[in-house]
Amino acid sequence: MPVKTEEVIKVIGGNPISGTVQIGGAKNSVLKLMAASLMAPGVFHIDNVPRISDVEIMSEVIDTLGAKTSIQGHSMTIDTTGVDKYETPYKLVAKMRASISVLGPLIAKFGKAKVAMPGGCRIGSRKLDMHIAALEALGVEFESEHGYINANVPGKLHGADVTLDFPSVGATENLMMAAVKAEGTTTIENAAREPEICDLANFLNEMGANIKGMGSPVITVEGVNELHSTDHTVVGDRIEAGTFLVAGALCGGPLTAKGVDPNNLSRAIAVLKHMGAEIDVTEDSVTVSRHGDIIPCDIQTLPHPGFPTDLQAQFMVMAIIAKGRSVITENVFENRFMFASEVTRMGADVRVDGHHAIIEGVDQLSGAPVQSSDLRGGAALVLAGLIADGETVVSQIEHIDRGYEDYVGKLRKLGANVVRETIETSDDDI
Ligand code: EPZ
Repeated sequence: MPVKTEEVIKVIGGNPISGTVQIGGAKNSVLKLMAASLMAPGVFHIDNVPRISDVEIMSEVIDTLGAKTSIQGHSMTIDTTGVDKYETPYKLVAKMRASISVLGPLIAKFGKAKVAMPGGCRIGSRKLDMHIAALEALGVEFESEHGYINANVPGKLHGADVTLDFPSVGATENLMMAAVKAEGTTTIENAAREPEICDLANFLNEMGANIKGMGSPVITVEGVNELHSTDHTVVGDRIEAGTFLVAGALCGGPLTAKGVDPNNLSRAIAVLKHMGAEIDVTEDSVTVSRHGDIIPCDIQTLPHPGFPTDLQAQFMVMAIIAKGRSVITENVFENRFMFASEVTRMGADVRVDGHHAIIEGVDQLSGAPVQSSDLRGGAALVLAGLIADGETVVSQIEHIDRGYEDYVGKLRKLGANVVRETIETSDDDI
């Protein structure tokens, strides 16, 4: 039988978790900043860049278009003087859906783009209808063939008043970036309000754009003719921070997440308090501890400033050992409960009914071999392992590496009994 190897994360539950963890730059901002850099020729310096595989893929994407990226530590240099292509290859887009973030920048720079259509993924179909409708309002014409989206601006890219059906993060970003170079004014109603949108808008303004209202439901963009390179520091990753705060709330703490603006986590902090955690904040850190039982809580995921869908699986771990019943409703993605089905292997009592997960708290989880199926679900399986009796082995951890830099190393520094190992797997280990 051929013997294969794979990397896994092994956790032995039961250790107290406390201390300070340095939070990195936001994955869901830096990928867009890298895409936006295509819009202006020059040399960009971006600091607080997380060393994660999605950043490596986005570097490949923009280098394919003619940019030259390099990274030292957490500082990235992007030289865009040689950007001369407007076509992204399928093989890269298939690896990472966020590659679609180059659509707006390429339209702004070249008046055209040929971007491979990203497939769906496990959390949902991840459609692009809102991106396309919004950009068509600016005068972009689209046709799709052979799995590619061909965008073209036959006339002038012009401003427009656009109302999004849903505050889509990606659609808001692509529209905002294209509007920067459109003639006239663009208003985006029902815009996404995530902190990463604000970080991108600030970056674009530092490049010479004229964007107002970011963080509110109405963003206004005055088109400009010229853009230039800039230096920027990526906003702290509120989702990485929230993941570690849950680790502290699960295992007692006190745990301090440093390098994040507490205002970007206000809903998650409110829910942590509701579930029995104690919270202290400074302007760039959040400290969590817990002494009593975990109190059940009903959670609705919503666009920012509502509860973030990217923390849904992590908070489900808290509900799994709460004293009573919690109901978590996923309103943003159509299929984001894969974690729920996997964690039942560890003894969790979770019943999924459409967009609702009904969780009956249990006293104890037991360690088991589990598979991560997506980035946040994978991180949550490790959190479940921290409180389980015995050993949990998490496989398919490449999902976790997409968005967490040194997740195991950071947890170990906080006292967790967790290691990353290469194990032999034969074809029987299905
Ligand atoms: C971004 O995805 C994030 N990814 C996601 O984080 C995050 O969960 C999501 O925003 C919501 O906050 C990045 O920034 C790289 P959307 P995005 O457009 O832009 C539907 C993580 O774990 N929709 O706001 O794709 C869509 O299918 C990832 O870090 C349409 O129907 O999110 C989804 O159900 C996961 N048509 C909902 O809207 C469209 O044209 C929200 O999608 C666009 C979106």
